[in-house]
Amino acid sequence: MCVALMSALVALAGATACSDAIEEPTYEYGLFPHVAHSGFNPKATYRVMFATGAPEPRWSVDDPDLATIQPSMPPAIEGTDVKSLSFALVTTKKEGVSTVRMTSGATTLTAQLMVKAYTDEQLAAGKARYETASSDPSRPPCASCHAKPGGVDHSPLKMAGFDDATILGVIQNATYPPSPTGQSTTSAFAPAGPLSFKGHTWNLTDPEKDGILAHLRSLPLGGL
Ligand code: HEC
Repeated sequence: MCVALMSALVALAGATACSDAIEEPTYEYGLFPHVAHSGFNPKATYRVMFATGAPEPRWSVDDPDLATIQPSMPPAIEGTDVKSLSFALVTTKKEGVSTVRMTSGATTLTAQLMVKAYTDEQLAAGKARYETASSDPSRPPCASCHAKPGGVDHSPLKMAGFDDATILGVIQNATYPPSPTGQSTTSAFAPAGPLSFKGHTWNLTDPEKDGILAHLRSLPLGGL
């Protein structure tokens, strides 16, 4: 059987080895998100989670002054089976851009880490908008929904793979861009188009736009 198969294979593809494995498994692994957005302010903690399906990953950041990276326990992500994934947690140390590297055996995958500096004023404006009650129906405190038990996760665990404009579109216009941009932390999935919650059209003043990003990007990641 092997001999017959081998001559067929040699004729077809120039194969020289006799193997019982007819189907070649792929060794393609992902590293997510491809681009991670975070922030920096000495008074807050800014972290980003990376995930890969590759076995025994080793992690590094090209510019060690920009951020640290440590292997992490799997976070709890609702609706996502994280058993086959490995995670690493990045903590930023200053603003700038660098490359995150994941090496598994002979494979190295890279992702981009973008760190924006936030001022104390921006951080304070974002926290105030997030928490402060208002009689204006377009300005409810974000915390009134998101900080409740079971509130929708909008920490960096969920949002680090999305740029500022995408997140502001979700907050103010209840929509992701029409074609997917950015990325989930655990796969290449990216939401597109309107939220099912059509009323998610909240008012932000101009200073609150950077402020809310400064605050959201500094939230703890799920239980971590
Ligand atoms: C009345 C409750 C409520 C308030 C107030 C609220 N949100 Fe939300 N938010 C939700 C719900 C529910 C979703 C999920 C919507 C969906 O997917 O259809 C959501 C989704 C999000 C998302 C996207 C998360 C994802 O998984 O795609 C972000 C970011 C977000 N909210 C930020 C904010 C910010 C910032 C504020 C305050 C300015 C705010 N929200 C106020 C209920 C609320």
